[in-house]
Amino acid sequence: YLKQFKIFFGEDAMPKEMNGYRLLPGFEPDSAKVAYDQMEINESDILIASYPKTGTTWVVSIVHQILYGDNPADLEKYSALQFCFHYLEFGAVCKYEVFKKISFPRQVFATHLPEPLVNMKKFKANGAKLIYVIRNPKDQAVSWRHFAKGFAFAKSEFWKPLLPEDEKEFYDVYLAGNQYAFAKKGEGYLECIKEWYKHKNDENVLFLVYEEMKKNPHNEIKKIADFIGKPLSDEQLNNVVEKTSFASMKKESEKTAPDNNEGAQFFRKGQIGDWKNHLTVAQSELIDRKVKEILGDTDIQFIYE
Ligand code: A3P
Repeated sequence: YLKQFKIFFGEDAMPKEMNGYRLLPGFEPDSAKVAYDQMEINESDILIASYPKTGTTWVVSIVHQILYGDNPADLEKYSALQFCFHYLEFGAVCKYEVFKKISFPRQVFATHLPEPLVNMKKFKANGAKLIYVIRNPKDQAVSWRHFAKGFAFAKSEFWKPLLPEDEKEFYDVYLAGNQYAFAKKGEGYLECIKEWYKHKNDENVLFLVYEEMKKNPHNEIKKIADFIGKPLSDEQLNNVVEKTSFASMKKESEKTAPDNNEGAQFFRKGQIGDWKNHLTVAQSELIDRKVKEILGDTDIQFIYE
């Protein structure tokens, strides 16, 4: 199913806009709108929201392992489906019509949409749960650059200046907010976090930190399991930790998408601090200034190493 990326992210792919926010190719305003207006939500639903490259796939896999880990048939069914079906806004394959036909005992959705484009009122009113994951913006930028290298459209006339091959140039363009994926012109990851962070202390909301998950997976996975109402025994917890380690997930992905390496690189390094090998001092300092300016009035403290 990862091969389908090549279709969505084809050479001529252009971004679409929704209420002033730019969505990356493959993410469709029509689907997002249907999800906003019509999608039925119930209390067993779990929405995993995030900005790209912050650990989305990891959190989705953890939730699937917690819910279906004891049942290999379910796990296989839902994990195989997850990629195609779980994004609210992944329009090319995931029309809401398709959602409606699948009746899961529990539904796990993901979204990269900015908060104003998700109907949080409805999610909350119907008792659904929200999990949001953040990652330090320096490693996020590095992960994003390596991922974007795989986009077939990166060389098109439209995208070439936005996704330069040169590493330093890439980060300069990105940090200036010129790509503004899932954001408004001139904005990006930090503004998106800010909008979602206002839900931090709401009922039925769990905020996760990528680096904390890396440093103490047992603790964080236990937190997720308790939050979604499926506490794990020690043995089950160890099993989920093992199955969702970077090494296990990478190995598993190589089995299912062996020839995908030059395309979407989901499992690259999975580390904290790789930014030190890629960002210039000036770029790193620019991020520090932006964090202060945009998130200075929140209690977010990013972990950089
Ligand atoms: P890197 O490019 O730094 O390796 P997303 O799923 O939101 O696109 O995030 C992708 C990032 O999460 C990639 O970061 C990927 O390697 C990392 N990742 C995926 N699974 C992981 C895991 N089990 N443990 C740690 N990092 C993981």
